Amino acid sequence: MTLDFKKQEINVLEHLEEILRGVKKGALVTTKSNGQVNSMTISWGQIGFEWNKLIFTIYIRSGRHTHKMLEESNEFTLNIGFGKKVEKILNFCGTKSGTSIDKIKELGLTLVPGNEISTPGIKELPLTLECKIIYKQLQDKDAILESLTKRFYPTNIPSDNASSNCDYHTMFYGEIVGAYIIE
Ligand SMILES: Cc1cc2nc3c(=O)[nH]c(=O)nc-3n(C[C@H](O)[C@H](O)[C@H](O)COP(=O)(O)O)c2cc1C
Repeated sequence: MTLDFKKQEINVLEHLEEILRGVKKGALVTTKSNGQVNSMTISWGQIGFEWNKLIFTIYIRSGRHTHKMLEESNEFTLNIGFGKKVEKILNFCGTKSGTSIDKIKELGLTLVPGNEISTPGIKELPLTLECKIIYKQLQDKDAILESLTKRFYPTNIPSDNASSNCDYHTMFYGEIVGAYIIE
């Protein structure tokens, strides 16, 4: 079988603006665990250095299906893309849960095998970062400014809803071990 893609390796530092602009409007975090591949939309994330490693940190509410999958797999891919088709994908993956639906199948997304991790990337959002989780921590609710707690954790939507707002976020630090654009 001929695989219908190529990977153009990139220097992450030369694509920071594109990555941050992508995350601001929405990016996909994909996880793989127990035979399931699942993507969810994120718009909170940070890129930078600690322990001399280049790290992409994601913030995932503890009740999300993706949270459970990250705990199991300890890795994820981050995919960024632009355009109308991508907006539809981001909207779908940000409003439906992998507990009840196969988002990859429903959207007909193309999975591209990872180089350094077993989680695939998504061809339709071609800029791909492969990340290995090297640190994780649930954010301390007592250390968050009260105005932010009121705004982001009002607790009126329960955990099993895609728009849930009661669970606090876990920071997952993903060491970037691969970076490329799928062509
Ligand atoms: C634009 C957008 C950005 C989002 N950003 C985040 C985020 O950074 N962290 C988070 O926990 N949930 C975020 N969500 C919500 C999840 O994407 C949503 O709950 C999703 O259905 C979870 O999928 P899962 O149940 O398959 O894990 C966002 C949703 C949208 C639409």
